[in-house]
Amino acid sequence: MSQAALSALDGTAPVNAIALRDAAKQFNTVEGPIQALAPTNFAVREGEFAVLLGPSGCGKTTMLRMIAGLEEPTGGLVEVGGRNLWSGHTRDNQALANMGMVFQDPNLFPWLWIEDNIALPLKLRGMGKQERHERARELCRLVGIAGFEKRYPRELSGGMRQRAAIARALSYDPAILLMDEPFGALDAITRDAMNIELQRIWLETHKTVVLVTHSIPEAVFLADRVILLSARPGRIQEIVDVPFARPRQVDLHGDIEFQTIVHHLRSRLQH
Ligand SMILES: Nc1ncnc2c1ncn2[C@@H]1O[C@H](COP(=O)(O)OP(=O)(O)O)[C@@H](O)[C@H]1O
Ligand SMILES: [Mg+2]
Repeated sequence: MSQAALSALDGTAPVNAIALRDAAKQFNTVEGPIQALAPTNFAVREGEFAVLLGPSGCGKTTMLRMIAGLEEPTGGLVEVGGRNLWSGHTRDNQALANMGMVFQDPNLFPWLWIEDNIALPLKLRGMGKQERHERARELCRLVGIAGFEKRYPRELSGGMRQRAAIARALSYDPAILLMDEPFGALDAITRDAMNIELQRIWLETHKTVVLVTHSIPEAVFLADRVILLSARPGRIQEIVDVPFARPRQVDLHGDIEFQTIVHHLRSRLQH
C-alpha cells in the first residue's frame, strides 16, 4: 500500500486547508460579461506555502478574493477548512474567521500608533486593552519591528509598514494567511529582505499561506508549490514543486537548479 493510502487510514493524511472545485468567476460589466477565472481545481494543504503566479490581469486577485470569501464564485465551490464557503448566496462567516489578509498597500490608519493598528482586529473582537497590547508587542517582535509600537505609520519605512500589516493579519491567529502582492511596492533589496522575513515568520507560525505575485524569482524563492496561471481567463497552466530546503537564503537566487525553475516558468509564461 502506498504511503499516502496508509496515512489516510491512520488519520495523518495532510488536510486540505483550501480547495477550489471547478470554482469559476465571471464579472458582469457594462461592456458585457468578463470571464476572470475559468473553472479551476486545486487544493492547498494545511501548513503549505502556495504561490499563485501569473501575468497581470489573469485573475490572481480574483482567485484570492474568492478564497477570502470577498467574491462569490459564479460556478463551482470554494472550501475552507473542509467547509463550503457559500450556501446559496449566504457566506459561512465562521470559515472566514480563520483567514488573515495582507494587500500591496498596508492600509494602516495614519492616526493610530503601530500597536493600535496591529491590535485593531482584536479590539473589534472585544479583547481587553492590556491583553491586546501584550499581543501587539509580541507581534511586533515576531515581525521585526519591536521598539516601534508607539510610532505612527508615517514614521516607518515601506518595508516596516508592510511588517505591521502582516502583524495585524496575524493578530487573531488565523490558520490561513492570504497575501496579494504584499511586497510589490517595495524596492528590490527591501523585497529580498522581506522574503527572508516572511519565510522566518511562516516557519515560526506554521500558517497556511497563499501568496500572489507576478515576480517569478519571488514565487520560486518562497513557495512549496508554484501555481502557474495563464492569461485571462485565468486557468492553471502548471503546478511546480519547489524542492529547496528551508530556511532558504538570498544566495539561493544564484543556484543553478533555482535558475532552471525560474527559466522554465518564464518560458511557460511567454508562450
Ligand atoms: N469587480 C470587477 N468587475 C469587473 N471586472 C473585474 C473585476 N475584478 C476584476 N475584473 C477583471 O477580471 C480580470 C482579472 O483581474 P484580477 O483578478 O485583478 O487579475 P490579477 O490580480 O491577476 O492582475 C481582469 O480582466 C479584471 O479587469
Ligand atoms: Mg491583482
